[in-house]
Amino acid sequence: MAENPFRIHGLVAGEFFTDRVAELTRIRDALRRPASKLLVYGYRRMGKSSALALAVDQVNRQRGHAFVADLSTASTVADVSTRILQGAAAALGKRWKNVAADLASRLQATVSLTHDRASGLLLPSISLQLRRAHLADQRATLGSVLDAVNDLARDRGATIGLVLDEFQDIARFGGEDAEWHLRGIIQRHDHVSYVLAGSKPHLIRRMIEPGRAFYDMLDVLYFGPIDPGYFASWIEQRMRGAGVTCEGVGARIMEIAGPRTRDITQVARTCFDRTTAAGKAVAGDADLAFADGVAERDDAFADFWQQLTPHQQNVLRALAVAGEGLTAAETSGRFGLASSSAVSQALAALVDAGRLVREERGARYEFDSPFLRGWVVSRALLDIGIALPVTYRVPAVSAGAPAAALPRRATEASV
Ligand SMILES: Nc1ncnc2c1ncn2[C@@H]1O[C@H](COP(=O)(O)OP(=O)(O)OP(=O)(O)O)[C@@H](O)[C@H]1O
Ligand SMILES: [Mg+2]
Repeated sequence: MAENPFRIHGLVAGEFFTDRVAELTRIRDALRRPASKLLVYGYRRMGKSSALALAVDQVNRQRGHAFVADLSTASTVADVSTRILQGAAAALGKRWKNVAADLASRLQATVSLTHDRASGLLLPSISLQLRRAHLADQRATLGSVLDAVNDLARDRGATIGLVLDEFQDIARFGGEDAEWHLRGIIQRHDHVSYVLAGSKPHLIRRMIEPGRAFYDMLDVLYFGPIDPGYFASWIEQRMRGAGVTCEGVGARIMEIAGPRTRDITQVARTCFDRTTAAGKAVAGDADLAFADGVAERDDAFADFWQQLTPHQQNVLRALAVAGEGLTAAETSGRFGLASSSAVSQALAALVDAGRLVREERGARYEFDSPFLRGWVVSRALLDIGIALPVTYRVPAVSAGAPAAALPRRATEASV
C-alpha cells in the first residue's frame, strides 16, 4: 500500500510541506538583516514552526547563520537560556569551530558542556542550580547569553538570526516585567536579528499595544491560513500521486476542517487511509474522516466537558449552533444562558483555556478545534433535543446580511 502523503506529527518539510512562499521570504529576509526584529504570530496549528524551521534551514544553506530556540516547554528563565545556548551550538557548531566553548567562555554563569552523540557536537547548558536562583539572577544570565550570541556574531563578522518560538511564554516568568526585560536585551543587539514567534494571538496583540513592551518595536507578519483553493488542489494532487483518484474531496475538506493547516492535513490524512484500498475518494469520505477525528478525541473531550460548569457547557452549545449573538434573548432562552456578563466571563475563561479563540476583529468567538466543535454538535446537543450532523458549521454571516435562521429542534430539523 502507498505511504500516506500527509504528515501530522511534528514539523513538516520536503514534499510534505507546501506553499508559504511569501512567509518564508519575509522570515528569511528578517533572519539575514542585522538588528531586524520581526514578530510572526497566528493561531495554533497554522504551520508556523514548520515554516520557521524551513526558513532557518534555507538561511543556513545559503551560507547565513540562524537557529531556533523553542520556549514553550521552559519551566524557568534558566531553561530559556539553556535552550538558546543549545540551539546556537547545534546550528552554528556545524559551520564554526568551538561554538559551545566560545559561548561558555563569554558567560559569567556556570555552563556545563555535554557531548551530543547524534551530532558529535558539544552542547552547553546552564548550571541546574540557576533554576532555583532569584528571578533577577536568572534574568541577568539570559541577558548575558543573548549578549554572548551577539558578541559571537560580531567577532565572526556575521549576523545571527535567532527565532524565539512561543516567545510569549516568557511572560509566564514575571508577566509584563519579563516582556520589558526581553525588549531591553534585544534592542541593544546589532549583530543578532530576532524573529519572535507565537501562537497566542490574544496575548500577543496585547504585548504590542501602546504602552506595552513590544509596542512599535517589531515588524509584524500575521501567519494566516493557506489559500483554500490552492490547498484543496494540493491535497488532491498528493492523493492522486499516491494512487487515489479524487472527486470534490479537497474542496469538501476545506469546508469542514476549518482554517488551521494541521486540522486540514489531519482530515486529509485520515481520508487517504480510508480510501486507499478502493483507490477513489469522494466528498462524503471527507465527512467520514472528520467524524473519525472527533471520535478519536472522544475521551479527551468528554473529560474536558465534565470539568466545565453547566453554564460553560451551555455557552459552548450555543456557540456551536448560533455562532454569535449569544446574548440575544432567543439564543439565551434556548440554551439556558445567564446574564450577558456571565456569558462574557464564560467566553473569556474558555479563551484563556485555549478552547475558544476570539477573532481578530469584532467580538466573534470560534472553537479553537473544529473537532471539539464537532464533538459538541454531535454529542452534547442531544441533551437539549437538537440533532445536527457532526460537520455542522454555523453559516458565515457576511457584513450587513441578516443572521442565518437558527436550526430548529431535532423534530423540525431536516438533517
Ligand atoms: N506548509 C505546510 N504544508 C503542509 N502541511 C503543513 C504545513 N504547515 C503545517 N502543516 C501541518 O500542520 C502541522 C503543524 O505544523 P506546525 O507545528 O509547524 O504548526 P504550528 O503553527 O507551529 O503549531 P503549534 O501552534 O502547535 O505550535 C504539521 O505537522 C503538518 O501536518
Ligand atoms: Mg509551533
